[in-house]
Amino acid sequence: MYKIALTDEGQVVSLSTEGQSVRFHTIWLRDNSPDDKTRSAINGQRLITLKDIPQDIKASYAAVENDFAEITFQPENKTVQFPINWLLEHRYDQTDDASNNGTRSLLADDVSAWTSKLQENLPEADFSALQNDETTLLQWLEHVARFGFAKVNNGPIESLALMKLVDLFGYVRETNYGRHFEVRTEVNANNLAYTGMALQAHTDNPYRDPIPTLQILYCLQSSTEGGDSLVVDGFQAAKCLQQESPAWFSLLTRYCAQFEYTGSEGVALKARHPMIELSADGQLKAIHFNNRSAATFTDIPFADMQEYYAAYRRFGELIDDPNNAVAFHLEPGQAFIVDNTRVLHARTGFSGAGERWLQGCYADKDGLLSKLYSLRHKLHSEHTA
Ligand code: FE2
Repeated sequence: MYKIALTDEGQVVSLSTEGQSVRFHTIWLRDNSPDDKTRSAINGQRLITLKDIPQDIKASYAAVENDFAEITFQPENKTVQFPINWLLEHRYDQTDDASNNGTRSLLADDVSAWTSKLQENLPEADFSALQNDETTLLQWLEHVARFGFAKVNNGPIESLALMKLVDLFGYVRETNYGRHFEVRTEVNANNLAYTGMALQAHTDNPYRDPIPTLQILYCLQSSTEGGDSLVVDGFQAAKCLQQESPAWFSLLTRYCAQFEYTGSEGVALKARHPMIELSADGQLKAIHFNNRSAATFTDIPFADMQEYYAAYRRFGELIDDPNNAVAFHLEPGQAFIVDNTRVLHARTGFSGAGERWLQGCYADKDGLLSKLYSLRHKLHSEHTA
C-alpha cells in the first residue's frame, strides 16, 4: 500500500511504501501530467510549454486511489491522476551513487563491450530470415544495438543487394560518394580504401559532422588472397585506456582532433571531434579514429601536445591489439553492419590476383533504433496479448 505526502510547502510530493520513499518535484509532475489537455491523446506530444505552468506552482492535495496518485496543482486548481507504475518507472530520486551525482557509467546498460571472444558467438543471421521473420530481425537489431556489429549470411549475390538490407531497418545516408560506393582494387584510386593496401582499423568519415552512424559492407566477389575484414570495439579500447591511464583517457575526451578529406574535385570536408566522445554526463558516446583522414592537430594546447600524442599512440595500440578484434573473410552474399560511432573496421592487405568486389553504403542509427524499439513493442505486445 502506497502513502503519499506533500512536503516543502507543496513543492515536493513523496510516494512511500514499506519504508522506501521516492520524491517528485511538483513542477516536474505538472510538466509530465498525462491528461489530454497537457498531452495529445493521439500522438503523445506535449501540448503546453513551460511558460503555461505558473512559476509559483504548488500541490495542495495528494492522495492514492487504487493504482493512481491524485494530485491537485495550484494556482490552476487542476487535479491530475498519475499511474503509480508510471511514476516508479520514471523515478529520478535514486539512491545509488552514480545517479545521485548526475554522472553515468561509461557504458549504457544496453551496451556490452566485447573482445576477440565475440568470435566464438558472432552476432549473425540469414538474409532471408531477416526478410521473412520479424523475431529474427528483432534479435539481429538487438545485436547491432548491443554490440555495434552484426553479420548477414546467404544474401543474394547481385549488385545493390545491400539496399534490400537497409530497407529492413531504415534509410540510406547519401554522401559525396553516392548512395552507395564500390570497393574494388583500383589503379590511381582517389581513396586508399580502393587499393589493395591494408587499412588500420578506423571509423569512417570522421571529416563529417554529423558522421554517418552506420556502415554496411556487402560482398559480391571474393577470390583474392587476404582481404579479411576485421572489426574492433572502440568502446572496449576506450575502457581499457581509461583503466590504464585516466589522464590519457581524459586528454582524448577533452580535446578535439581535426579530420579532413579533399581527395575529390570540389570536395573539402572538415570536422572536429574528440577521439573519444563522452556525453555531458560522462557516458561513452562515440569514437572517432582514422589515421588516413586525421588532419594536422592544432587545437591541443602546447602544454598537452606531447602527452596527447602518447595517449593517441596507446589508444591506437589498443585498437590494433588482436585480442580486441574479430576477423572474418567475407564470402559473396555475406555482409556486415557496424555502428560507425563505436566499432572500427579494418582490412588486411590483399594481392592483385583475383577479384574482390564489395559494395558499401551508409545509413543512420536513428532509423535502426526506431525499428528496433517499435518491433520490440509490437512483438512483446503480441506475446503478452
Ligand atoms: Fe572504412
